[in-house]
Parts: sequence; structure tokens; C-alpha cells
Amino acid sequence: MNDKTHLVDHITGHRRMRRNRKADWTRRLVRENLLTVDDFIWPVFIVPGTNIIEPIPSMPGVNRMSVDRAVEAIKEAADLGIPAITTFPNIELDMRDETGSQVLEANNLINQATAAIKKAVPNIGIITDVALDPFTSHGHDGILRGDEIINDETVDQVVKAAIMQADAGSDIISPSEMMDGRIGAIRRGLDASGHQNVGIMSYATKFSSGYYGPYRDAICTSGLLKGDKNSYYISPANGTEALRDAALDVEEGADMLMVKPGLPYLDICWRLKEAFGLPTFAYQVSGEYTQIKAAALNGWIDGERVMMETLLCFKRAGCDGILTYFAIEAAKKLAKG
Ligand code: PBG
Repeated sequence: MNDKTHLVDHITGHRRMRRNRKADWTRRLVRENLLTVDDFIWPVFIVPGTNIIEPIPSMPGVNRMSVDRAVEAIKEAADLGIPAITTFPNIELDMRDETGSQVLEANNLINQATAAIKKAVPNIGIITDVALDPFTSHGHDGILRGDEIINDETVDQVVKAAIMQADAGSDIISPSEMMDGRIGAIRRGLDASGHQNVGIMSYATKFSSGYYGPYRDAICTSGLLKGDKNSYYISPANGTEALRDAALDVEEGADMLMVKPGLPYLDICWRLKEAFGLPTFAYQVSGEYTQIKAAALNGWIDGERVMMETLLCFKRAGCDGILTYFAIEAAKKLAKG
């Protein structure tokens, strides 16, 4: 018996957590979660015109692309094994109006993009947002009258837009405008127009967040937005309310749920997955992306490492996948092993 016994021996005895961490093979063996390319949905910004690749200053490494260039990039995404993309349009400012009427143009930028992507890259999933914010002159997600975003009229318009998006080839409609009753209304609209197989990924819990700033730069709504979105997005203070909101979407027929933003809301991801068991996705939004990129560009963090860590943490929190601007970079990194 060694008389130099350590106090720790008596305390931990047979309970040594580090045994399972001692070598690469044990760590691999006990690993609980794995990130794969199948977990990614890549958000893509579309601009009018041809042959345009335009960097977004507040999102280093992310570009707005014209449809032709977006199609090429999405081919690359499909080759990397990324299962799905989602698109956001940045239309000319003079085409935006009070009601976002461009959203109801069958051949608008987003529907043109969908049709072109479907034709050129038929095996990638296309998810389209139906919020009005890229189309309104005031940057709100719905129809604004006085100070109020009018719920039911907005839903009517969103349903029409969703049907047009499905006609253009969208596989999943993802309403992000947080109007009440929209999921049921969209489901009925899609079914009545022969789109029973088009799914709905609900932005079930979308929080009123400061993390959306760079996205608003990307689609040029930063300068347009009057006031805030607190009357329709959820307060960051409220988790139980978020669950009740998601419960309505589930009841109304959502096929998949989304939490947005992602990392500050991992508790919500977990609670949603536990409560409903539906496929659950997190949107690692523009501000989250930019924080990592900015710190990495300053040499203050290892950007690639933090990228992979955050994406893995979404899996641990119960997510089935992540909408992320890192999709291409992370997919390449995973392919390298
Ligand atoms: C609005 C919408 C937002 C985002 C996508 N669609 C939020 C907003 O501008 O209020 C944010 C995406 C991101 O930050 O990456 N319908």
C-alpha cells in the first residue's frame, strides 16, 4: 500500500469518467451524436439578372447569386450530398409595395429560381419561404395597415403564394411570417390545388431577435423596416409560449418544425423534439454565422472548429438538421474526414 494516497482515490473510487475518454477509439465508441452532410439545408440568396455573384459585406463568404449562378452552386451542393436548399429573393426596391404584391406573381424571382433549380438539379429538395418581407416596401412579413400587421388578410395572401410556389416546383413550403392559423390554411390550400405531397416546415418558433441583422442586409430590408416585429414574433423571454405556438402548428398539419434562431434557443429545440417528436430543425441564422466568421477573421477563434462544434451541438439538442450558411463549408470538411 502506497502511503502517498491521494484524497481523490477515496472520493471517486471506481467512478472514473476519464476511462471512456482515454483514447481516440474509446471516444469514438462512446460518441452519442454525429454530424453528417444529411443534416444540412443551405439557404441561398437570389438576385435578378444573369452571371451575378455579389458578396454580402456583413456575411463574409456568403453571396447573392443570379438564378443561373445559383443553379451552378446548388449543383455543387447536391454533389456534396446536401439534401435540400432554401431560397430568399432580393428583388429590386421599386418592385416592393405596401402589400408585397410581387409574392403573387407566378413568375417572380423566387418561382423562377425554383423552376430552374428543379429542372437542373432534380434530386435536391427545394424549400421556399412564403413570408412577405422580401416583397414589401416596409420590410414587414405581412400586410401593414396603420401600425398593425393584419393577420387574416396576410394568411390569404400567403396561401396563394404557397400554391404558386408549389406550382413552380417547391417541395416544402416554409412559412416564416408567424401569422396565426397559417399552417392549417396553407395545408388546405395545397390539398385543394393538388399539392398533397408538398410538405410544410413550420417556422414554429420564431423569436424576435437581433440575430437577423445580416439577413436583412442581404435582402435589403434593413433600411426599410418600420418599427419591430414584436407583435408577431415570439419574445426571447418565453419558452412555454413557444411550445404552445408549436402545438398549434402540429395540430394544423405541420410536417416539420423549425426553431429560429438556433444556438441561443437550444432549450426550445429540445423541448419541441421531446413534446412532439416531429422532425425538428434549427436555423443557425445570419447573425450567428457572422459572429463566428467575424471572430475567426480576426484570428480570435478557430472558425472551422467552432463551426463544426455548433452544428454538432444542434444534433445533441435533438435537432434532425440545421439550416446553415456553413452548409457548403461544413459538407466539404466532412467529406475530407
Ligand atoms: C423574415 C425572415 C427572417 C429571416 C429569414 N426570413 C427574419 C427577419 O428578417 O425578421 C432571418 C434569416 C437569417 O437571419 O439568417 N421572414
